Amino acid sequence: MSCPHQPKNKNYREVESSIHTDFKDDMSYGDYLGLEQILSAQNPLSDQHDEMLFITIHQSSELWLKLAGHELSEAINNIQEADFGHAFKVISRVKHIFNQLTQSWNILSTLTPVDYLKFRDTLGHSSGFQSFGYRKLEFLLGNKNAKLLEVHKSNPVVYRELTATLEAPSLYDEVIKVLADKKLIEDPTQLRTDFSLPYQQNEAVLNAWLAVYKNADEHFELYELAEKLIDIEDAFQQWRFKHMYTVQRIIGNKMGTGGSSGVGFLKKALDISFFPELFELRTHL
Ligand code: HEM
Repeated sequence: MSCPHQPKNKNYREVESSIHTDFKDDMSYGDYLGLEQILSAQNPLSDQHDEMLFITIHQSSELWLKLAGHELSEAINNIQEADFGHAFKVISRVKHIFNQLTQSWNILSTLTPVDYLKFRDTLGHSSGFQSFGYRKLEFLLGNKNAKLLEVHKSNPVVYRELTATLEAPSLYDEVIKVLADKKLIEDPTQLRTDFSLPYQQNEAVLNAWLAVYKNADEHFELYELAEKLIDIEDAFQQWRFKHMYTVQRIIGNKMGTGGSSGVGFLKKALDISFFPELFELRTHL
């Protein structure tokens, strides 16, 4: 039955009678998604209008980081099971998540230095540097640094999970195992065994990748996997760069709330590669 108040109005959508409207005993959209908890977690500490943007961008980034970690853990499982098809799928998804995250800097760039300074002091020493989701992702990809665990000591659950991720083989360590299984590593004793250490470029791994790239048809799966890893690093570096650049735009060369030198510290992260041999090999082709 059409609405009696809007009988002839075409610019009106009738609510179909089959649509569910009683959620007294039924699970609703908000129930399923826990929206009551999520949407009540934006609690600005100042009365400044722009603090809401600052909180929202961080919270939404944390959700995407969490999903990216979930997907990368799956990619690691897939590689362990030599299921390359599924690994390709989730790795591509992670690339798109990072592109999405990089886009969000454009929204944050509308925050001017003056706007930010009005509430910056309320943040105390809190900083994205303490982001568990981000650190887990860096560890999963292979940027290991035990010193970065320290800021998580006050949260034992998070600390345990991050320590386990630090000590476990990263996505790249798993891929290197595949190179060894396929007998592409001449001397596997040269491979690292302590996965918690920062990854160092390795001659044996470089030679294995060179063999893959020089015979791409023969090793097509590995070749495709390598290019997917390059896609992730590319997307990840774009995020790192846009973060650094947005920070420079907003706070110049001020120190960070987390205590670092700020932009200078963030710039150094741009030199860290997850898959150094994959970039090095290009020079030798
Ligand atoms: C006004 C906006 C922002 C400013 C001024 C800013 C500033 C900084 C600074 C200076 C650092 C270095 C650590 C420190 O001393 O605090 C840092 C680290 C970090 N920030 Fe931001 N940030 C902003 C927004 C964001 C957003 C939206 C995210 C999203 C999650 C984020 C995530 C991170 C992460 C993950 C790190 C650690 C990076 C690393 O270890 O290399 N930041 N931020």
